[in-house]
Amino acid sequence: MRAGRSPLVVANWKMNKTAREAAAFAEEFLSLRPSLPDAVGVAIAPAFPVLERLGRLLTHTQVLLAAQDVHTESKGAFTGEVSAPMLRDLGVSLALVGHSERRRDRKEDEASFARKIERLLENGIAPLYCVGETLEERDGGRTDEVLARQMTALDAFGSLPAGLVVAYEPVWAIGTGRAASSAMAADTHRQIRSLLSKRYGSDLAASVRILYGGSVTPANAVSLFGEEEIDGGLVGGASLVPADFAALVKAAG
Ligand code: 13P
Repeated sequence: MRAGRSPLVVANWKMNKTAREAAAFAEEFLSLRPSLPDAVGVAIAPAFPVLERLGRLLTHTQVLLAAQDVHTESKGAFTGEVSAPMLRDLGVSLALVGHSERRRDRKEDEASFARKIERLLENGIAPLYCVGETLEERDGGRTDEVLARQMTALDAFGSLPAGLVVAYEPVWAIGTGRAASSAMAADTHRQIRSLLSKRYGSDLAASVRILYGGSVTPANAVSLFGEEEIDGGLVGGASLVPADFAALVKAAG
């Protein structure tokens, strides 16, 4: 990562860990925390029903509570959904928007991501906007075009959304054990930063943290996070084990 941008490592637990399992994780991870670099921001995104319990355990720890998604509206007749004010009340400070698993399973689009980001900003929650191409798109030479389209979710905002973090997660690298090479990830991060520059100017774009996600492990993290353009990670599988997650935080320091 580059001087001036503080590293961030975010655990995306996806549909894993009950409240009880989360509490066991927190106890073990927090016991390792004193040996980890203070300068690295850490956030954990559990499933919605686990937010309250985990949030209580993380109070006063500097580990941020994150959410995996949010609804486009603040309230109303939307059965099964969770709003930004509900997340704010639970102490959530960061929320994922646009994860590829939701793009795939829920067919959500950029217009709805823009509305989700708006709701988060209204509630003082930082958006972590996820982008990334499929294997077919990369092999077809369409990565640039796909990223450009995904980044149009930010077009609704005249100024840089407060606290915005972007995560580059190539779909082919998620949960496959096949991470992007550091050089390829760094190259794509540069592309994303140039898309941010077009919207907000190069100085503001340079302040935005861009995380890499997709099969990050303690074995490849030092090389990935060593790239100037990679400001940390959004981690699935390896974030489920306290010692592995701690190793990733160390690697980002
Ligand atoms: P894995 O780390 O399990 O590949 O998942 C990455 C991811 O999707 C994080 O959001």
